Amino acid sequence: MYLFKHVKELKHYLNALRKENAAIGFVPTMGALHEGHLSLVRAAKKDNVKVVVSIFVNPTQFDDTADLAVYPRTAPKDIEMLSSEQTDILFMPNEKEVYPPGLDTTNPFDFGKMATIMEGAHRTGHFDGMAQVVRRLLQIVEPDLLYMGQKDYQQQAIVKKMLKLMGVNTELVMCPIIREPDGLAMSSRNVRLSEEDRKKAALISKTLFEAKKEASLFSLQEMRTRAIEKLSLPGMEVDYFEVADAISLEPIEHFEDAEQIVICTTVRVGGVRLLDNILLVDG
Ligand code: PAJ
Repeated sequence: MYLFKHVKELKHYLNALRKENAAIGFVPTMGALHEGHLSLVRAAKKDNVKVVVSIFVNPTQFDDTADLAVYPRTAPKDIEMLSSEQTDILFMPNEKEVYPPGLDTTNPFDFGKMATIMEGAHRTGHFDGMAQVVRRLLQIVEPDLLYMGQKDYQQQAIVKKMLKLMGVNTELVMCPIIREPDGLAMSSRNVRLSEEDRKKAALISKTLFEAKKEASLFSLQEMRTRAIEKLSLPGMEVDYFEVADAISLEPIEHFEDAEQIVICTTVRVGGVRLLDNILLVDG
């Protein structure tokens, strides 16, 4: 595995690969890697000649400086894990490399409602910062395929829209959610849960799986109300539980209103925000 810290050297190396027509897959991450991240690397390894993984904890997507300060940083372990997956290239830039003074890296796109509902409504500016760093990383790596997790459904939907607006040839591959044995979606934040809250957290995916079944028995409204009731236990707080068009993310009220439907939720368990979602029609 090659480790690059500087944009210039990485670009030089990738340009040489591109001359040989090597398909390049790219997996952007913020480190603190787990099986969820590694599933993206494995998918990318299958489809491409070379795989680039980036680790960069992007400050501009944190609306809360305290959250940024406690974000887990486990570089030595991450490097070991990526090396065991036979990752070809690891890019670990510092902030100056990503946001060099003088280079305009601000996000020029308006994603409209897509970026202001659900996570966007709870984390001001989060998706602008996310889009800013992903666009910058895409301009550096110029991959053929970009691998993102369904775990952050709204994030990948926004990036898909951004790829269209950028007019690049990069295609997004959405990889399925990797879960713990009890169904909890794997996340770097799970380590912050107390033992008791960790047990409670399994209710989130359980409720989503049940909601998927109930969608054919009840109206979407009823299904949503039942789910929110189930999740409203002491110590748990539902930030949102939305039934939406899987492409536009517009909230919908009837099953017929969209070709593909996604249910997205974020529940706070003991103060830790846990995201999860499920597609009703797998398409
Ligand atoms: P991060 O939270 O590190 O996640 C990196 C990628 O791993 C994302 O595409 C995310 O959806 C995926 N992922 C995380 N947990 C997963 C799971 N349980 N199953 C499947 N995939 C999972 O998302 C970010 O970083 C950042 O916002 C980033 C895109 C890197 C921009 O800074």
